[in-house]
Amino acid sequence: MFSAQTYVDRRKGLREQLDTGLILLLGNNDVGMNYIGNTFRYRQDSNFLYYVGIDHTGMATIIDLDEGTETLFGNDFSIDDIVWMGPQPTTAELGAKAGLSETKPLSELEAAVKKAKSAGRKVHYLPPYRHDNMIKLHQWLDIPFSDLKAQASEELIKGVVAQRSYKSDEEIVEMEKAVATTGAMHIAAMKVAKEGQTEANLTGIVHGIAVSMGGELSYPVILTKDGQTLHNHYHGNILKKGEMVLGDFGAETGMHYAGDITRTFPVGKKFTSKQKDIYQIVLDCEVDSIKACKPGVTYQEIHLNAAKMLAEGLKSLGLMNGNMDDAVAAGAHALFFPHGLGHMIGLDVHDMEDLGEDYVGYSDTVKRSDQFGTAYLRLGRELESGFVLTVEPGIYFIPELIEQWSAEGKFKEFINYDKVIANKGFGGVRIEDNVLITDNGPRILGPPIPKTIDEVEAIRRG
Ligand code: GLY
Ligand code: MN
Ligand code: MN
Repeated sequence: MFSAQTYVDRRKGLREQLDTGLILLLGNNDVGMNYIGNTFRYRQDSNFLYYVGIDHTGMATIIDLDEGTETLFGNDFSIDDIVWMGPQPTTAELGAKAGLSETKPLSELEAAVKKAKSAGRKVHYLPPYRHDNMIKLHQWLDIPFSDLKAQASEELIKGVVAQRSYKSDEEIVEMEKAVATTGAMHIAAMKVAKEGQTEANLTGIVHGIAVSMGGELSYPVILTKDGQTLHNHYHGNILKKGEMVLGDFGAETGMHYAGDITRTFPVGKKFTSKQKDIYQIVLDCEVDSIKACKPGVTYQEIHLNAAKMLAEGLKSLGLMNGNMDDAVAAGAHALFFPHGLGHMIGLDVHDMEDLGEDYVGYSDTVKRSDQFGTAYLRLGRELESGFVLTVEPGIYFIPELIEQWSAEGKFKEFINYDKVIANKGFGGVRIEDNVLITDNGPRILGPPIPKTIDEVEAIRRG
């Protein structure tokens, strides 16, 4: 945890943004995997981590905006619990670490929420995503399940986004750690990958590094020869020379700050010349897009410029034709680049996605596009100093999409289908880094991870 003062200050900052009522912050609880005693890996809710920091199951906090009180709810461990789980801190000890001096048993939470509701007071809660917390909100606030997200407090959502979007110096230290561990995972993958190895074997190695460095995965590992499938979690293939490995994985630190890096490298010692051509287009786009990340520029604009750069590169290889400004305006580039350039990152890999992407990534002046491809851009708003985001362009040859678009003759004025179809088995290339926006420009977090063709081939040669 950070010092208690950090959490005190964050809650004060939140209180100042809201008017009246209660703020209810529900922590996450253990979830049984196949029975209640055999749980999934425990992950605390990121909003709870941000405002309270306590990384334990079965906790909640109420901030009473009218009375100015803050209460931590939790259960002390019984001697039976301690026999099985070892000595455990009391709720009061945990509260002290978060600057919360008032603590109550968890059994009193329901009555406190119901009392506020029956007095006609507003209970601000964030959009729930865990079913056990949904059941509680439904029962305590008498809100239909189907309405729970819609009735979440917009005031509270906006207040949280206004704080969590700007990373403090102590958060940046954690994020640097996350990216350093993530970098060690990627360098290990590039060093040890070999022909005949399963994707699962390499996945186990990178996961082990995250754990061995005191963290965990920040999201399920994408490590595949089929990089054209954007979030490919299948690890059953055996790597063959001539193929590329697309590895998109990262660690979160013990305090749960995330890294999210992608590298693409050949299974053999060298890229083929076709792989080099595509790789260099993606790399140039990534490097230039990072340079463009400055306060005052919208990420939507940087995304569209990236799409244009990729399209120009594809045109130079004869895969696209015509005017690339027009092609990008029409959305033709999305055959090869069907996702957004990046997203905010912090305590979540897609930071604050639970609060609603548009609250986090868009603003009154920058609205989400509804065009296929650009619609997936999670972050479009004007960049500000203190934001941390990912920059992750890619080029993919997705056989099913190519077949569908070519059968429809879609954008045939911009796409050279004969040549694209000939490349259907190419796979995909994505390159991703994590970038802090400062008044002096962009800063890539973490130590350098091989990225140029020469650097990648050098590490593959050993
Ligand atoms: N790791 C998922 C993403 O890049 O957004
Ligand atoms: Mn990623
Ligand atoms: Mn990402």
